Amino acid sequence: MKLKLFKTFQQEVIAAFLGSAVITVTAELIFWMIIQETGEALRKRGYRSAMIGPDGIRPSSLMIFIAVSGIILFSLLCYVQIRSRMRYVKSLLTCIEQIAQGDLEIEVPVEGNDEFTRMAKSLNTLQENIREIMERERIAEHTKNDLVSSVAHDLRTPLTSVIGYLGWVRDQSDLDAATRQKYIDIAFNKARSLEKLTNELFGFVKLEHRELELHLGELNLVQLMEQMLDESTFSFVQNELKVQFVCSTPQIMIEADGDLLARMFSNLISNAVKYGKEGKLLRIEMESDGRSAVTRVINYGHVIPREELELIFRKFYRIEQSRSQDTGGTGLGLAIVQQIVQLHSGTIKVNSDLRGTVFEVTLPLRQEEGQGEK
Ligand SMILES: Nc1ncnc2c1ncn2[C@@H]1O[C@H](COP(=O)(O)OP(=O)(O)OP(=O)(O)O)[C@@H](O)[C@H]1O
Ligand SMILES: [Mg+2]
Repeated sequence: MKLKLFKTFQQEVIAAFLGSAVITVTAELIFWMIIQETGEALRKRGYRSAMIGPDGIRPSSLMIFIAVSGIILFSLLCYVQIRSRMRYVKSLLTCIEQIAQGDLEIEVPVEGNDEFTRMAKSLNTLQENIREIMERERIAEHTKNDLVSSVAHDLRTPLTSVIGYLGWVRDQSDLDAATRQKYIDIAFNKARSLEKLTNELFGFVKLEHRELELHLGELNLVQLMEQMLDESTFSFVQNELKVQFVCSTPQIMIEADGDLLARMFSNLISNAVKYGKEGKLLRIEMESDGRSAVTRVINYGHVIPREELELIFRKFYRIEQSRSQDTGGTGLGLAIVQQIVQLHSGTIKVNSDLRGTVFEVTLPLRQEEGQGEK
């Protein structure tokens, strides 16, 4: 408690010195008086020695008594007052040595209120930070391993097919033209999906490392969405999906990279088709509140479990059900979507229940377009 009064070790030492000095001087005075009294009494009884002469205690003896006892008392008092702090410094040193040897689970005791206390606190924070960095590195390493095995798997599957079909066509010299063409087409399509996958991967790596230059331009979000839906008509028909596009304005202007936004919406739409087939309806809502543009891509049917809502934005994360249903995909789609939204200073959130799965993208409007939408 006493040590908490002082904010630096120097103050503690000075206080200990002053305290010891005051006590020593007081004690010495009492001591001096006692010696004087005792010497006087002995002298009166006629006692003579090297220390007690006929005029009382000899001054040189008195000086030696006072000096020696003073030094001993002062040293003892200083030692007692600083002892607990020195012990604490010693325990800190032990902790530092253990940390230096790689033990990061040590709880460095925090006592007092001086530099050593701050040092102890910093050591605890340092350990915490190192543990966090190591955990992040561990996750990154894990993700990298996942990436390598995932990429290897996803590249190998179509590649095996391409080699298989082409090898078969090459070895079967008596194949009729139609069958030959059929297998060449299959191999070609597989090679295409390989190309798509590698492009996606490269694109993602570029996005992740911010190596991508944004080509910003003025863009009508409503028009972009209409175009995207037009281009996907075939896939809607094929999957027997009805599409509703709800937007009360023909124009919501934003500043964005058109290609990237198209890629972002295309990922959301293709997910909605892939995972919302059974719901038979794809609904897209778009609106603006004067400051930002909000787009909701909604599909019905398959519900994303609550605990997986956060996880689906992670790279290579696929819900087990999607894997088992063999919907195809690398689990990069939503990670790419999130990167693109963030590059445009926007936000994305998802909600999924029996009323539908809603991906909501909010993008800032162009400054001067705050009220510009019609
Ligand atoms: N609209 C949706 N409705 C239901 N589940 C979805 C929807 N969108 C994504 N998911 C789930 O989230 C997972 C991750 O989606 P993401 O788009 O990142 O990967 P993917 O579609 O599996 O593969 P990729 O998009 O790379 O081809 C999917 O596997 C799927 O289970
Ligand atoms: Mg996807």
